[in-house]
Amino acid sequence: MTRAWFAGATSLEPSLIGSASFDTMIAQRIRELGLRGDADYAERLRIDSTEAARAHAMVAVPETWLFRCSATFETLRERLLRRRMAGQETVRALSAGCATGAEPWSLAVTFAAAGFPVAGISIDAVDLNPDALDAVPRGRFGRLGVREAIPAWAQHFVRSEREDLVVDPSLRATITVRRADLFTFSPLGCYDVILCRNVLIYLAKPARERLVRRLVSWLTPDGTLGTGHADNAIDHLEDLAPFGPTGAFLFERAALPSGHVPMSVPSAPPSPPPGRREAPRVAVAAATAPRAGSRSFTRRDELDVALRREPNRLDLLLELAELHVAAGEIARAEDAFRRIVYLDAKHEHALVRLAELAERQGKSELAARFRGRALEAHLEREE
Ligand SMILES: C[S@@+](CC[C@H](N)C(=O)[O-])C[C@H]1O[C@@H](n2cnc3c(N)ncnc32)[C@H](O)[C@@H]1O
Repeated sequence: MTRAWFAGATSLEPSLIGSASFDTMIAQRIRELGLRGDADYAERLRIDSTEAARAHAMVAVPETWLFRCSATFETLRERLLRRRMAGQETVRALSAGCATGAEPWSLAVTFAAAGFPVAGISIDAVDLNPDALDAVPRGRFGRLGVREAIPAWAQHFVRSEREDLVVDPSLRATITVRRADLFTFSPLGCYDVILCRNVLIYLAKPARERLVRRLVSWLTPDGTLGTGHADNAIDHLEDLAPFGPTGAFLFERAALPSGHVPMSVPSAPPSPPPGRREAPRVAVAAATAPRAGSRSFTRRDELDVALRREPNRLDLLLELAELHVAAGEIARAEDAFRRIVYLDAKHEHALVRLAELAERQGKSELAARFRGRALEAHLEREE
């Protein structure tokens, strides 16, 4: 049975829709609601925003982790540090599609590390998945929420507690959780920073472009928009220009207002805000998550050696694959992700990453196949 109408009702990328488990899930939902069939459910999605949110969340994966794509946060910190030094006292941000909160918490730490006082930081954490949003206030992240290096400047704000990382609870006040659909959300003011990462990839092109236009309209004149590495929807918007290293995926208005503070790398790392207690450093981050640059190369060598001894270790392969991505070595990253999928055909993260890498290279059919498989794996896990 084809459920192409679902794409129209939810703005989702049509290739994500139509797997066997997707059909089962929708059929089950139709039964649970006591509806007669697809037409009734399509109408329900149109008039019932909660059901539409639920349906969307069944397909959009709430996967996230702290300092995901750390170059993004590194570059934001540098920019915000300059602005703080130039006298800016407040910073407003939107985490659009925040999932379980790793992104807004990473932003909070980034702004605090740039010297903004807690009272001057305000972050809206928006998502339409209520289950994911429940986790946001906790600021606690387990193994799946910690997959990349915690930058050195951020470790001050993070401590390990048993298996988890916990972000400094004093930053909780900076985050406001809002359950909303980004297509209907109306913010109370403009944002200096908007991150909308790994959300656009799930949307069909017209919806992607519509959402990006909305996001851009919510930016301050010198605001920054960040996307995920596979969210290649904004190339077409002439009023945006990329800035920072290519791996940061940050954009600003092409014609910047006069008085704009350009991005520049500060000579020294910022001191923590006055009066901040010394939090214990995060041992787990150093052990499991290498830093960028030459140290990451060394870590890749180590991983190569370790994998020669234990070639089927998925955690090592995953770490290696992510380091290859961070180093821009896409072919090697693909090899590592493919090896993971060879060992575990339902490895959702590796499948999503393969989809993203294929998309990045313009291989949209291949990307759609990997996304379909990722979706299948995701839905099976939830059953
Ligand atoms: C893959 S997660 C990405 C989380 C985070 N931005 C990151 O990159 O780590 C995508 C999240 O976007 C949310 N989302 C997708 N479409 C949305 C929409 N139209 N409005 C609000 N949230 C949405 C999903 O519910 C999901 O939690």
